[in-house]
Amino acid sequence: MEIISNIKEIQTRCLNARAVGQIIAFVPTMGFLHEGHLSLLREGRKRGDLLVLSIFVNPTQFGQGEDLDAYPRDFERDERLARECGVDLIFYPDAESIYPPGYATYVSVEGPLTTSLEGACRPTHFRGVTTVVTKLLTIVMPHVALFGRKDFQQLAVIRRMTKDLNLPGEIVGLPIVREDDGLAMSSRNVYLSDDGRNDSLALVETLRQAAEMAQDGELASEKILSSARQRLNAGGTLSIDYVKLCNAHTLEEVATIDHNTVMLLAVKVGKTRLIDNGPLLG
Ligand code: PAF
Repeated sequence: MEIISNIKEIQTRCLNARAVGQIIAFVPTMGFLHEGHLSLLREGRKRGDLLVLSIFVNPTQFGQGEDLDAYPRDFERDERLARECGVDLIFYPDAESIYPPGYATYVSVEGPLTTSLEGACRPTHFRGVTTVVTKLLTIVMPHVALFGRKDFQQLAVIRRMTKDLNLPGEIVGLPIVREDDGLAMSSRNVYLSDDGRNDSLALVETLRQAAEMAQDGELASEKILSSARQRLNAGGTLSIDYVKLCNAHTLEEVATIDHNTVMLLAVKVGKTRLIDNGPLLG
């Protein structure tokens, strides 16, 4: 497994791989790998001849007062896990090479897809994500790039962006990987105290309860959302950023749910912000 930090070097390495007909599979991450990332890498291993993992904690997608400095990092552990998943090449750039002095170019997807939900709570977040993902995709030039569905809105935004910019390569979204008790895997779960870890199960319980209501015939969003808010507020320890029922493709809110509806939620457990999502009738 090679570790490359230099942009020119990885570009040349990937161009050479393409030139000899290799399929490049790419998993972009911010490191501190967990089972969710590993599932992307295992799928990437099946789909590509050259499996590339990037590890870059992207400063532009963190807002003021967010956890950029505290974001968990452990390169040695990531390196070991990447090797176990059969990664060929880790791209591990520093912030100065991705955003050198004088850097002035940003990519942003306009409209409700980026201003709703996460975008409403974190107004500069998606501009940072789309900028870095565009840069990573143009550096690695993958045939296929894999993302987790836990960041449901991020995946929708990236699909929109790659379509609008005619970026080649397939974008693949893979299912959320959960702990045994249902908590969605996230690098941020390490921030949770024992009590917080317990309280955070309200997210998956809320999704389960909403799916049960829907499957029992309740199709009115407001009724499902009202029960969801009650469940999330029940312990008195979570603060809700949002809980919404949206069309899975447009992310517009729906008044009546159907097979295309997804519930999306974001809460704070202490200082830790957690997101989750799931279909109701899927
Ligand atoms: O999902 C993530 O880990 C990040 O948002 C991504 C896509 C690697 C961009 O920094």
